[in-house]
Amino acid sequence: MTQPTLTDRERNPLASLDEWEDDLLARYPDPAESKAKTKEEFRNYEAPARDTVREFYRLNHRYQTFEFVQQKRAEYLKFDKKEMPVWGAMEFLNTLVDDSDPDIELDQLQHLLQTAEAIRADGHPDWFVLTGFLHDMGKVLCLFGEPQWAVVGDTFPVGCAHSDRIVYPEFFADNPDSQNPDYNTKYGIYSHQCGLDNVTMSWGHDEYLYQITKDYLPEPALYMIRYHSFYAQHRENAYDHLLNNHDRAMFKWVDAFNPYDLYSKSPKTPVVSELKPYYEDLIAKYLPATVKL
Ligand SMILES: [Fe+2]
Ligand SMILES: [Fe+2]
Repeated sequence: MTQPTLTDRERNPLASLDEWEDDLLARYPDPAESKAKTKEEFRNYEAPARDTVREFYRLNHRYQTFEFVQQKRAEYLKFDKKEMPVWGAMEFLNTLVDDSDPDIELDQLQHLLQTAEAIRADGHPDWFVLTGFLHDMGKVLCLFGEPQWAVVGDTFPVGCAHSDRIVYPEFFADNPDSQNPDYNTKYGIYSHQCGLDNVTMSWGHDEYLYQITKDYLPEPALYMIRYHSFYAQHRENAYDHLLNNHDRAMFKWVDAFNPYDLYSKSPKTPVVSELKPYYEDLIAKYLPATVKL
């Protein structure tokens, strides 16, 4: 499918990738905080980003087809773009600058360090801490020219019907797969409890980083990385019919990870130079000296 020529703002409606995450926070507020916040505060919180997030999902749901995902897998899973140490990849990711106000937005590295430090503070195993640190590294896809809707956003299975429990389900009406009889039934090309390893997900930073790290990290870490944006399942249980028992057991880890991703944001920014030696050691313990992107 050829895509029409678009301006950069039409391709990338979010002023910042954080707008997607802020929207997640509005959809899935921190239970520890939501009682304290009034309805009015939530409305104010949601209002500014709402239209751009809507437009972002319109594009995501329109263009993430089974065929599109196959194209992106063929293009990116060759890993022929760059080779660098993991810390270097993080610094590369941090060159991602968007239109957001730098005073109020945390950069990518700060979000990753805050997530990891919150996991570490709760006494979890070191590979869990490392997973927190790595989990959004796949957003480097933006730096390879991918539009926002092919990097972030809630992920979902392609090749079967879109659940109405995915955010903005009405936009799937414009996705050609929803007219394709091979793909638009409950199971589509899949079968009952076939297991997520046999299911192709919409393309984005989760699957990409999973493919980069799959030979090196413990399986729970890989589930957290691969499915952390699959809100339609880990929050809504909309695809229970595709999960096998092993997936169900492993999703306990995805559930354990999610609050650290969503609720660890703090105005207190981590001091990168103080934390770097600890994370360099963790990287060296689990990952090769360089990774191929
Ligand atoms: Fe993410
Ligand atoms: Fe994240």
